Amino acid sequence: MTLLKMGIIGAGGIAQDRHIPSYLKLKNKVELTAVQDVNEARAKEAAEKFHIPNVFSNYHDLFKEVDAVTICTPNKFHAEIAVAALEAGVHVLCEKPMAMTTTECQAMIDAANRYDSVLSIGYHFRHMHESQVAKKAIINNEIGDPLVTRVQAMRRRKVPGWGVFTNKELQGGGSLIDFGCHLLDLALWLLDDPKPVEVMGRAYDRLSKTPGQVNDWGEFDHETFNVDDHVTAYIAFENGLSMQFECSWAANIKEDNTTLSISGVDGGLSVFPFELYQAKYGELWDSQVKLRGGADDFGLKQAENFVDSCMGAADLVVEPEQALKVTQLMEAIYASSKTGTSIKL
Ligand SMILES: NC(=O)c1ccc[n+]([C@@H]2O[C@H](COP(=O)([O-])OP(=O)(O)OC[C@H]3O[C@@H](n4cnc5c(N)ncnc54)[C@H](O)[C@@H]3O)[C@@H](O)[C@H]2O)c1
Repeated sequence: MTLLKMGIIGAGGIAQDRHIPSYLKLKNKVELTAVQDVNEARAKEAAEKFHIPNVFSNYHDLFKEVDAVTICTPNKFHAEIAVAALEAGVHVLCEKPMAMTTTECQAMIDAANRYDSVLSIGYHFRHMHESQVAKKAIINNEIGDPLVTRVQAMRRRKVPGWGVFTNKELQGGGSLIDFGCHLLDLALWLLDDPKPVEVMGRAYDRLSKTPGQVNDWGEFDHETFNVDDHVTAYIAFENGLSMQFECSWAANIKEDNTTLSISGVDGGLSVFPFELYQAKYGELWDSQVKLRGGADDFGLKQAENFVDSCMGAADLVVEPEQALKVTQLMEAIYASSKTGTSIKL
């Protein structure tokens, strides 16, 4: 079988911790051929550590050697690099969020369509075992029509103190774009892409802009911190559906908490851990699941789905048009917070 030649662009944390190890587990399908980073020393270090044969200082040169790339740079460069790769006939898995703006996301989709290449985004929560079970339960009508969705992506005092996460110019935002986006994406996917009609949002930065913070994830500079550390939103969709959304890096709460729960007409569910809430035989009826198969390697599942899609052997789990809608909603939340009014979509 022909191996897919894979290149890595941006050899930092997520490339080394998730993508490269996942591709290495797929040796029967992928050959890690090349790596590129503006920080050449980091590219060389990754190449040595993972035995990647080619290091490039320029991504245009890398495109000539590969069939596909995985983009792991700060968000500001996602669209520019993805469009260049797609125009060179190279398939793209781009880390989340898809890009800084909806316009950039659309340019990526247009390039993928024009050059008939595969484009997917690293919304890996969809590949998690619980998420897959929840999707099947909803498709099989266990909860009936969804009505109300609650999302909480909450951390207590964990502003990432490394990398460029607190830099608006390079990342476009903070807790929403970094963490909240995963749960927002997962909720939209589970709800089968409902059409949003109105968004009310508030973004906060006051805690992290105050000097002397107690922070569990390293140190950051409160003076240069210029992104959100806490975001709330109320999203109204067509057909009466609504979502209460909250995410934070640094809330003053008892403990970290990742919640996605959906109440439908006939039942409800929570995704983490997966539980189903129904009423049967005159009683309230709760179901838990015993997930089989050991540790949940969602990074591997993400990599395999992308590789198989490039080979024409699978359909993408994360379609780029869906990822664009996440960015569109995040833009609306930020716009609502800035103007103090709701945004009609
Ligand atoms: N899916 C997830 O859960 C998850 C987790 C962490 C990060 N991410 C995403 O991954 C991306 C990278 O994050 P990270 O934590 O690996 O950051 P990082 O800072 O550890 O690594 C980024 C790397 O990109 C390089 N780089 C910067 N500009 C570049 C350019 N123009 N061309 C080539 N290389 C460039 C940097 O030198 C650095 O080595 C971000 O988009 C982030 O949102 C996703």
